[in-house]
Amino acid sequence: MATVTLQDLTKVYDRSAPPAADRVSLDIGDEELMVLLGPSGCGKTTTLRMIAGLESITSGSLSIDEQVMNQVPAKDRDIAMVFQSYALYPHMTVKDNLAFGLRRRAVPRAEIERRVKEIAETLELSPLLGRRPHALSGGQRQRVALGRAIVRDPKVFLFDEPLSNLDAALRVSTRGEIAALHRRLGATMIYVTHDQVEAMTLGTRICIMSGGRVMQVGAPLEVYHAPVNTFVAGFLGNPPMNLIPARVAEGDGGRRLAVAGESLVLPPARMPALGPETALTFGIRPEHVTLRRDGAEAGASLAAEVLQTEALGAETIVLAALREDRAAKVMARVAGDAGFRVGESCRLQFDLAAAHVFGAEGDVLRPR
Ligand SMILES: Nc1ncnc2c1ncn2[C@@H]1O[C@H](COP(=O)(O)OP(=O)(O)O)[C@@H](O)[C@H]1O
Ligand SMILES: [Mg+2]
Repeated sequence: MATVTLQDLTKVYDRSAPPAADRVSLDIGDEELMVLLGPSGCGKTTTLRMIAGLESITSGSLSIDEQVMNQVPAKDRDIAMVFQSYALYPHMTVKDNLAFGLRRRAVPRAEIERRVKEIAETLELSPLLGRRPHALSGGQRQRVALGRAIVRDPKVFLFDEPLSNLDAALRVSTRGEIAALHRRLGATMIYVTHDQVEAMTLGTRICIMSGGRVMQVGAPLEVYHAPVNTFVAGFLGNPPMNLIPARVAEGDGGRRLAVAGESLVLPPARMPALGPETALTFGIRPEHVTLRRDGAEAGASLAAEVLQTEALGAETIVLAALREDRAAKVMARVAGDAGFRVGESCRLQFDLAAAHVFGAEGDVLRPR
């Protein structure tokens, strides 16, 4: 059982710079796998190191199982951390690397033998127990690092970009192993990454950070489908959400969005109540855009020219520029072959039931 609560957790390294972590508040439930996701430098590692006790807390509080931990030394927090660099002892065998933490805690010899054997079987390290780290592949080393954390049976696991030194195939398989471990151990885990695919596939919930601050916390599909601001909308998704400048216009049928000399009529459930001429941002994901030669719906499409196509087999990613505002670029993700060539004119048809509208500050606007 372990819950982790961050309340206004703040880290200032340098008084002349903005805080590295700025009033980070987060409730992590028992057995949850919380992912901290954001670009490099947004404060993920700093936040994790404060939880681990490797970095002092400037202000705010950190609690584990409702006990404030701010002043508790790292070794007494019952936390295990797995880093990007495996940090194995090079002169020790795999077995000794796995046993090291337990020996230091004076766990009885027979108990150490039993636990090391069990972990080695779980992680398929049994045939490698006699080897030294230099004789292991990257994936095997990372499994030893994982094993070293698990063997201690800590209250909380912390991971800091543990897969980023692995090649693509190993990243996928090790990601699967971490997900399986989480299910099997039922442990509370906090996992830092800048990789949205890792975040979407591993997280029970995702906490998206920017500039030291929490932008949004939610289940993966919740943050994907209902981003609270343009930062989250533009960070998640590959390609990310299209964000196009627009303003409010009045027409015969009521309020609409004026975009590049044309207008889009959003369903009432998607159109915020704003006065004419209000500047805003129209957001639409690439999978909600299709390309038409003719037969495009009035009020749900815009004239454009194809700039680039990337045929990936199962789907094609198309980049187009709006005809009346060529600075506005739109990505479409269409099944199979797009059927359009570079330089061709088209109409971009939008599934406006999936439209998002953001205000001048970038915050989502929801109709009441
Ligand atoms: N030991 C340190 N001293 C001063 N500044 C630091 C230190 N560690 C990190 N920072 C700064 O804090 C910010 C957040 O860094 P970090 O937490 O490592 O980000 P992330 O892990 O999200 O890439 C960055 O601007 C970084 O330069
Ligand atoms: Mg980091």
